[in-house]
Amino acid sequence: MKKETQISYEYFKNSSELNDIETALFTKAKEARENAYAPYSNFLVGCAVLLENGEIYSGNNQENAAYPSGLCAERTALFWVAANFPNLKIKKIFVVGGPKEVQASHPPIPPCGACRQSLMEYETKQNENIDLYFSSMNEEVVKVNAIKDLLPFYFDSTFL
Ligand code: THU
Repeated sequence: MKKETQISYEYFKNSSELNDIETALFTKAKEARENAYAPYSNFLVGCAVLLENGEIYSGNNQENAAYPSGLCAERTALFWVAANFPNLKIKKIFVVGGPKEVQASHPPIPPCGACRQSLMEYETKQNENIDLYFSSMNEEVVKVNAIKDLLPFYFDSTFL
């Protein structure tokens, strides 16, 4: 039997189509990207997280000479938020990434598989979907309405 799964997503051709809170998140993610520590890849990523109390926190990728010891922007931001505000729900996450030398054309940067799994953990924990936006520095933005949309057949604690 053949089955199919489908996701829907929003595409913004230009970030000027974003509303005020989305624009604030985009700006914070771009600011965080500037502080990324990525001397090995020269690929800078920033991530901004909106909590239910309206506060925005951010993170960026942190690389290491022992390459696998580094961490993506999404998990740097997410783990910090989860460590400090364990009882506040995450409403929205905005990721902006791309080469240090910004290129004229670059597609939006989606979270890596490991970050999707980590994000999924908190979406499940809070029992409420998280809006995820991702972009490069080139103004196009993609939005999904849940982390699980990016991770079909996700593994979670119900399987343990
Ligand atoms: N990176 C992120 O921070 N987030 C992603 O979703 C993709 C990749 C970082 C990891 C590494 O520091 C650099 O980008 C190149 O892979």
